[in-house]
Amino acid sequence: MSKPKVFVTRAIPKGGMELIRPACDAEVWAEDLPPPRPVLLEKVRGVDGLLCLLTDLIDGEVMDAAGPSLRVISNHAVGYDNIDVAAATERGIPVGNTPGILTETTADFAFALLMAAARRVAEGADYVRAGKWRTWGPMILLGYDVHGATLGLVGMGRIGQAMARRAAGFGMKVIYYDPYFDASRGAAAGAEERDTLDALLAEADFISLHVPLTKETHHLIDARALGKMKTTAVLINTSRGPIVDTEALYDALTARRIAYAALDVTDPEPLPADHKLLALPNCLVAPHIASASWATRTRMAVMAAENLLAGLRGERLPNCVNPEVYGSR
Ligand code: DGY
Repeated sequence: MSKPKVFVTRAIPKGGMELIRPACDAEVWAEDLPPPRPVLLEKVRGVDGLLCLLTDLIDGEVMDAAGPSLRVISNHAVGYDNIDVAAATERGIPVGNTPGILTETTADFAFALLMAAARRVAEGADYVRAGKWRTWGPMILLGYDVHGATLGLVGMGRIGQAMARRAAGFGMKVIYYDPYFDASRGAAAGAEERDTLDALLAEADFISLHVPLTKETHHLIDARALGKMKTTAVLINTSRGPIVDTEALYDALTARRIAYAALDVTDPEPLPADHKLLALPNCLVAPHIASASWATRTRMAVMAAENLLAGLRGERLPNCVNPEVYGSR
């Protein structure tokens, strides 16, 4: 019997490919950049399964280009805003993602951004490299204390809670805004709920975003929201770029309406090297690497492969974002 045909839209860690190769007739897009749209549409034709990345827009057109053989879409990410899940559900195609395994690694990085922004680590390194370090100075590169400060978590899901645990170790007060989170669990995590986003923004010294990108959260942090923050506030974004209105953030940082932003995700993404945000000393930008540890990326590849293979066998995906497809079968 011939093996199921799959397209993998980029080279993934070998733990994942070691599962896929023996079971599938797999084509892997080996370039550094994602397959251009026409190539993607061509490559998916007649495949049984698709393993894709957050950089691939997988909409109804891609699903139809694949045709009726397509029976599973597996995203190598926990976020799946790159996939039109409703279109997949309409076509009876289960969509898999990689939740849970990247929580701690992502929170480590979000906290690293928080610390780096508070204590101006990147600016300090630039200062030394530029030969500006001529003496110790009582006023050189002063930042903000993390201990004793208030961390405001927008979103109290797995990564938000992992941030709360880290903040407790630093003696921070933790507050959160998440209308979907059970407040008794927040209390157990040592965090206090705030009923409105505005209340959180007004109180927090550090604001860290941990919500998925949806119509509801698109530009959640806009000029109005930025205007509610303290002038000393530090904004950290490791969720998705479009949750923050980039233009509004640029204006707020330039006018010093807030002190600092540390971003692992941007809009647009990637941010061009000549983007005006990169010229600001009070903005630190990383290239979407919060989950980028060897161990976590391998676990993500394995989980994405397991979702793919389960779908190809006609089994329920271990991690499925649209389980309603099973009801309609
Ligand atoms: C995800 O998984 O959604 C992250 O953004 C990348 O690991």
